[in-house]
Amino acid sequence: MTISKIGVIGAGLMGNGIAHAAMTSGFDVILVDTYPEALPKALATMTKNMDRQVTKGSLSAEAKDAALARLTTSMEYGVLADADLVIEAVPEVLSIKETIYKAMAPVLKPDAILASNTSSISITKLAALSGRPDKFVGLHFFNPVPMMKLLEITRGLATTEPTYQAALDLAGKLNKTAITANDAPGFIVNRILCMLLNEAIVALHEGVGTVESIDTGMKLGANHPMGPLELADFVGLETLLSIMQVFHAELGDKYRPSPLLIKYVNAGYYGRKTGRGFYDYSSTPPRAAQ
Ligand code: NAI
Repeated sequence: MTISKIGVIGAGLMGNGIAHAAMTSGFDVILVDTYPEALPKALATMTKNMDRQVTKGSLSAEAKDAALARLTTSMEYGVLADADLVIEAVPEVLSIKETIYKAMAPVLKPDAILASNTSSISITKLAALSGRPDKFVGLHFFNPVPMMKLLEITRGLATTEPTYQAALDLAGKLNKTAITANDAPGFIVNRILCMLLNEAIVALHEGVGTVESIDTGMKLGANHPMGPLELADFVGLETLLSIMQVFHAELGDKYRPSPLLIKYVNAGYYGRKTGRGFYDYSSTPPRAAQ
């Protein structure tokens, strides 16, 4: 099937990035969010990020205007009736996703594909809840979506070959490199990455090293562009904790969340977004917060 119109549900961090990447790749995009403040905020973010691309020379001013002209926004799901593909990017809460899939069922055209950007929930489980398991697929993008080259594609048990092929084709059109992951918790990247971030927090808690020595060690010793504690702050410590809790329940004890991570989340230290995590973001450059 040919995809030309893409619906995105959820205009948050990931949803606005997915919409941005789709619009600049020539797709018509319908962005839906039920919170009144979310859509103007997403539009402002996309415009600012496209302006930055124009300044850097990776997007022309004409291409930016054309991309923004391909966008429709709405607070109603009904506008998704003519979408060829709908990508759900709402919070990582099963009941929220389930409610949306039920609301989408009578709206979507019969051959439309439904995808989830979930980081940790089983695609087979979501596919079953969607009522269209053959036309359901996992499309796991990475933040910031317009910059990150990877798209992790996951088939549920009932995902058909044409649905999977359409996902691979989409990756190419979005200029992303696709990898295919089995439907296992965290797929490939988060399963390995979150374990690393959690282990850095365990090492900090046990006094193996300071914030700076752990991050410098992994940057210079393992050639990582960001240290694991800096990256944990960027991902959001509450997000990391909820992913580790899913892994712990489903994959066993080696994924037990660090007690220090739990303590930070209880304190409201979520990382960059709250101004405090393993670093204090009230100064520039941020300082390690002990
Ligand atoms: P977010 O909290 O930034 O955005 C979620 C958006 O969904 C908000 O704008 C909210 O208003 C909207 N929303 C909530 N309920 C809704 C409803 N019933 N209908 C329509 N919109 C609704 O969340 P974020 O970080 O963008 O995550 C979204 C999904 O992407 C989650 O499943 C997450 O696991 C996944 N993900 C997140 C990554 C990250 O780095 N944050 C990376 C890859 C995947």
